Amino acid sequence: MTMRDGFRVERLTDGAPREPCLPLLLLADEPGPLRAYLHDGDLYVLCDEAGNPVGVTLTLPHPEEPGTVELKAVAVAATHHNRGLGQRMLRGVLDDLRARGARRTIVGTSNAGIGQIAFYQKAGFRLWQIERDYFTPEKGYDPDERENGLPHRDMVWFDLALS
Ligand SMILES: CC(C)(COP(=O)(O)OP(=O)(O)OC[C@H]1O[C@@H](n2cnc3c(N)ncnc32)[C@H](O)[C@@H]1OP(=O)(O)O)[C@@H](O)C(=O)NCCC(=O)NCCS
Repeated sequence: MTMRDGFRVERLTDGAPREPCLPLLLLADEPGPLRAYLHDGDLYVLCDEAGNPVGVTLTLPHPEEPGTVELKAVAVAATHHNRGLGQRMLRGVLDDLRARGARRTIVGTSNAGIGQIAFYQKAGFRLWQIERDYFTPEKGYDPDERENGLPHRDMVWFDLALS
């Protein structure tokens, strides 16, 4: 999907190398957990007019709920924040998921990600559930890391109906 200003969202073909997108994916998750799903699901890339990757979304089919897809990692390069690109990337990804038969999408973000919590609601997602004590050192999360002055502790889950 190409946008008026030349930005476009592409789904990488199966087997295409994902390593060039690692710096972007690492904005959304820690290296340990990311490594576990880096090569699973589909990777969507938002490219600028010159073809450089400036945003990524990794999607995974839900293992137990056919028709539900999780947005596992969503990120836009810090140099491009707050220009509406994240919302535009999400719209491109959700349109593609819908066209390929997905009926519902879910996404989780940390309790400390106040901006992300706003971002997903502005994209139409509804609060769904809280998974307490999700961010543990065993899973690769630093208990001392803070965002907005808050420790990462609980996962805030959102969902959105696509049909
Ligand atoms: C979350 C993220 C993808 C948003 O990308 P973006 O391109 O900056 O988002 P947009 O410009 O499309 O923002 C759209 C809306 O969300 C809101 N928003 C985005 N980040 C925000 C923040 N940190 N605080 C408050 N609101 C925020 C904006 O206010 C904007 O609303 P508006 O149009 O009414 O002003 C980006 O901040 C990012 O990559 N963060 C690091 C990775 C991450 O945390 N990913 C999510 C966890 S998986």
